[in-house]
Formats: sequence, C-alpha cells, structure tokens
Amino acid sequence: MARALTFTVEVGIDYPRIAVAPPGPKAKRIIAKDKEWSSPSYIKEYPLVAAGGRGAMVEDVDGNRYIDWMAGIAVSSTGYAHPKVTAAVQEAAGKFLHICGTDFYYEAMADLCERLGKLAPGKGKHRVFLTNSGTEAVEGAVKLARSHTKRPYVIAFQGAFHGRSYAAITLSASKVKYKAGFGPLLPGVVHLPFDDPYRAPFDPREIDRVFRQIVSPGEVAAVILEPIQGEGGYVMPRPEFLRMWRKLCDEHGMLLIFDEIQSGVGRTGKMWAAEHFGVEPDVLLTAKGLGSGMPIGAIVAREDVMTWPRGSHGTTFGGNPVCCAAALATLDLVENGLADNAAKVGARLQAGLRKLMLRHESIGDVRGVGLMIGVDFVKDRATKEPDHELVVELEQLAFSKGLLLLSCGKSVIRVAPPLVLTEYDADKGLEILDECLTELRGKKPSKKR
Ligand SMILES: Cc1ncc(COP(=O)(O)O)c(C=O)c1O
Repeated sequence: MARALTFTVEVGIDYPRIAVAPPGPKAKRIIAKDKEWSSPSYIKEYPLVAAGGRGAMVEDVDGNRYIDWMAGIAVSSTGYAHPKVTAAVQEAAGKFLHICGTDFYYEAMADLCERLGKLAPGKGKHRVFLTNSGTEAVEGAVKLARSHTKRPYVIAFQGAFHGRSYAAITLSASKVKYKAGFGPLLPGVVHLPFDDPYRAPFDPREIDRVFRQIVSPGEVAAVILEPIQGEGGYVMPRPEFLRMWRKLCDEHGMLLIFDEIQSGVGRTGKMWAAEHFGVEPDVLLTAKGLGSGMPIGAIVAREDVMTWPRGSHGTTFGGNPVCCAAALATLDLVENGLADNAAKVGARLQAGLRKLMLRHESIGDVRGVGLMIGVDFVKDRATKEPDHELVVELEQLAFSKGLLLLSCGKSVIRVAPPLVLTEYDADKGLEILDECLTELRGKKPSKKR
C-alpha cells in the first residue's frame, strides 16, 4: 500500500503561483548570460529558470511556483529535493567523492549492483555495470551484445530514442535532427516499425520481409526497444508485440534489450515497464529516475549474457559513490510507496485527461500507464493528423499559468511528473490544462466535468 505522502503538508499548496510574468527580471538576466555562453545546440523549451523545488513543485528565480508534470524529462522521480535522497547524498559526499569503481571497491557500488541485480525482471542471476547516463548504458549494451554473440547487427525501431552517442543516435529514429550532419553513423543497424496501436499497428508480416530481404536473424546480436517509447511519442505497444520479439529472440539466439531508461524505476506504477507486458528481457537498461537527478545509469544483464572479459569495458565516473547513495535511497522510496503512488495518482490523472477528451476535440488519444502518460493532439480526430503547433503553444501557455509540460513525438505532451505527485498536483494541473485548451481553441467547454 502507498504510504501517505507528506509533500502537500511540507510545501503547503501555495502553488501554482505566478507572482511576475515569466521570465521575470532575474530569469531574464540568467537567460541572457546563458544565451551568450552556452552551446547553441541546447533546446530550452521555455524560459524556466529553476531556483529550487519540493515534491512536484518547482520554484523559479523570481519566486514563481509551478506544478511540474515533466520532472526534468522524467528524471526527478522522488521530487526535487527529497529529504531522504538529499541526506543520503550529503552523507556520502562527506565521506569521499570518488575512487573509481572500475579499479577499486566500495560498499555503495556493491550494494547497488546487488540491488539492481535482484530487482531485474526475469529468472536467473543478473550482473550490473554502472554508468553515468542512459546513453552510456545503451552504448555499453551494444558492445556487450556484439561481444557476447559475436554477431554484428542490431535491430532497433522507428520512433526510438536511445541517446546522443554514435551508437545511440544510430539506433534512434525519432527525429532526424539528432543525426543530421553527424554521419557516417554506426554500421549494422536495421530499423523496423514499432507497434503504434493508435496510428500504425505493427504488421507481423514485416518480420518475414526483413529476415528474407534485409538481414539474416543469425547475424543479429540484439533487438533493442523501449517497452514504452518515450521521446518518440509515449507509444505503448500491444503486449503481443513484445511477446513476439521475445519469441523471435529465443528462436534465433538474439538478445532482447529493453531500454527502460525513461520507463523504469517505478514510473509506470511497477518497478519496470516490462512487468506490465509479462516479457523478460535479457538485458535491461536504466538511468534517468534511478538517481533522482544524480547522474547514474546501469546495464543489468543475466549472468550468462554478461560475459565480456576483465578490462574490456569500464568507466572513470560511472557508479560514483555519491550517485550510488542517491540511487539506493531512490530505490528505497520507489519500492516503499512511490511506485504505488504512481499507479494510483497516474490512474486518477489519466481518468481526468480522458474527461478532458470529451471537452476538447484537439485531444486525439490518451495512453500510457502509471505516471507515463501521452496526450496526443490532432487537427482532426478522423484523420489523426498531428497538431504540432498546438502543442508548442500549449507548452508556452501552460508555463505562463504555472504548469510545466514537455512535448515528445510530433504532437504529444508527455505527462511524466515526479512519482511523488499528489492528487492536488494532478487535479490542479488538469484544471490549468483545461483552461489552456479552451483559451487556445477559443472554444467553450461543451460539458461540465
Ligand atoms: C529511452 C531513452 N534511452 C536513452 C536515453 C538517453 O539517456 P541520457 O540522456 O541519460 O544519456 C533517453 C533520454 O531521454 C531515453 O529516454
């Protein structure tokens, strides 16, 4: 059962609160400096300049307070400064900041490897390699798969996002801008359509074509997929799609890698999204929410798969002791209430979003599970033509009213708040969203909620 969450009591419900239209004067100064000195490749969705946060509330430098439905891209799983996580970080930081887990030992690293190994979905013993980021976990998993199977090819999916390194951008196929100008990319990657029940359900006959015309399954090291696509549009496939890949991997000796970097660590109401589908991967990748914002990720693989020899793969910073402490504290919280809270508040939020569908024709689809919900906006429900412009305007308008949103795919708002989200945060956010959509379309609601 979910433990009572105390954040509403801690911060009161003095939010959302827009004291000065954002960006306020302090925010403007910081933005100007950032614009002058930072890489032009950064996106910066809207002018939020964070100063702090509690639970699912973010405060900006001008004292505005926002309800957060995006968790810094699905990362701040325990909220912005959970006392148990910050205490664990402070305690670890007071002991030592670094020793290098590739070459030496420390307790937090052994503890976290054991913990993740035991939490892995699937039978058998698992081993764990700790990384600095999701991308690094993806990169390592491709190396592991090739080294273990001695095969060159990797199958990935259209709409996928796996990160920013060369292997990761090659595997990704969500937006061409992530690859444009960076080629040549990694050889040996084949993309297949993902199962998108709303717009393009997968046709299993495609398998036959690919294995006949494009690549022999006997040469495929691994099939990598996000059990629920993140950046590609919060697309939740039908369970039979994942079961089909499990079966094909077993038949042809290919490894099944689940990239749960966005979907894992309680976000969907279970520790791993894989559990919703009843499918066990050979390798699971995690990062994002694992450290509540501290940079840490992991490759979790069955022992008979993690066969790379001593010295073949390593990292200077990966599994840093302070980050391990944050991850252990995060897992404690997720296992003892936050995953349950994600399921409970997520169901309430999804029900609320479905009610909004009755009032706003612009919402074409609401999908997902727990606190991983996609709201897909369309120009026309019959054609399902994505309404990208509406989503851009919606993000900005919601921001000005105190609700932090983040898009993905062509026309989707990804609802991925901290797992500490309260009923207040869900209901108040829904009110703001309703108001924004009404304003944007100049439509009067047709029914009372
Ligand atoms: C599914 C998935 N895989 C990999 C990554 C890359 O992780 P990182 O940004 O930590 O390198 C992301 C980041 O958005 C992701 O959502």
